[in-house]
Amino acid sequence: MPDFVHPFWSWYIIIPVVLGLVFCVVLVYLNTTSKPPGETETTDHVWDEDLEEYNNPLPRWWLNMFYITLVFGAAYLLLYPGLGSFPGFLGWTSKGRYDNEVQAAEASFKPLYDAYLATSLDVLEQDVAAMGTAKRLFATNCALCHGADARGATGFPNLRDHDWLWGGEADAIKTTIAGGRNAVMPPWESALGQSGVEQVSEYVYSLTRDPINPALVAPGQQHYNTLCAACHGPEGKGNPMLGAPDLTDNVWLYGGSLGAIRQSVALGRNGVMPAFEGQLNESQIHLLTAYLGSISESE
Ligand code: HEC
Ligand code: HEC
Repeated sequence: MPDFVHPFWSWYIIIPVVLGLVFCVVLVYLNTTSKPPGETETTDHVWDEDLEEYNNPLPRWWLNMFYITLVFGAAYLLLYPGLGSFPGFLGWTSKGRYDNEVQAAEASFKPLYDAYLATSLDVLEQDVAAMGTAKRLFATNCALCHGADARGATGFPNLRDHDWLWGGEADAIKTTIAGGRNAVMPPWESALGQSGVEQVSEYVYSLTRDPINPALVAPGQQHYNTLCAACHGPEGKGNPMLGAPDLTDNVWLYGGSLGAIRQSVALGRNGVMPAFEGQLNESQIHLLTAYLGSISESE
């Protein structure tokens, strides 16, 4: 159903279209009746001394085509939407047709999806057809951010490793996919100043490697204990309830160089995993969870 902001625009379309059709009918009518059939008549136009222009009636087949076109056009505009906001007597809409097709597709897939939902993740992981479907779901919905191979990129977690920000159990993964996740790492530059950021970053760095400037580690640890331990844990092991990463495992979402750590600390980070509830049904989320299990790598 077309939506016009003002009824004027509807008439702006209806009037020229109807007048155009009427004009064509009148034009054809005048051209068919004014010619006596059979006789040759000239238009009195003469070129090159003796080249005359005949005024022959329009060919029958051509006129018939024209009539068919006119009748088709008028009938179409009566049956289907096209004349301004007039919906057409058939009540057809492109949205209605799309909805019907989606409904039909859903009805035909429903038994299959119901069966998948009733199947345990372990069994689904071994089911080649189910994993084929899941792989396509992943390519359509997830690969954009997590990569076609699900190994992620800076800011987008690798889904094949065993390192989970929000928990790797099936239920946690389903909650992540259905509801989305919103990670909040506050910026610390104004609270800590540049030297404070450098100290605490050096401490974080020292959790996985030999510090570059060992003198900064002890004051950094103090900052850590007061400001960071609440989310990242007293030992830096992270907290899956908040999506706070383990800072001791040398797996980095935003990069593990001293510079990248400083940037995370100074400016904060705000990773958003969109919610797929409504876009994917329960059994599609079940399939994707099995898929992530099937592609997980031991190392
Ligand atoms: C309110 C909870 C909270 C506090 C407090 C907090 N963080 Fe975070 N931190 C997070 C979350 C959540 C993330 C993950 C951000 C994301 O995924 O976008 C994170 C990410 C990080 C990262 C990036 C890790 C990676 O894998 O790239 C570093 C480094 C970090 N925090 C260090 C710190 C330091 C140092 C402090 C204290 C000065 C601190 N955080 C305080 C919640 C917190
Ligand atoms: C618009 C980008 C985007 C899309 C699309 C997206 N994700 Fe994510 N996803 C993210 C980001 C960013 C995070 C990390 C959030 C954070 O910083 O904690 C994430 C986190 C996750 C996690 C949690 C990882 C962990 O370590 O706990 C899972 C599981 C996940 N996504 C699965 C999926 C699946 C399955 C799809 C497709 C249905 C998908 N994602 C689509 C951006 C995306």
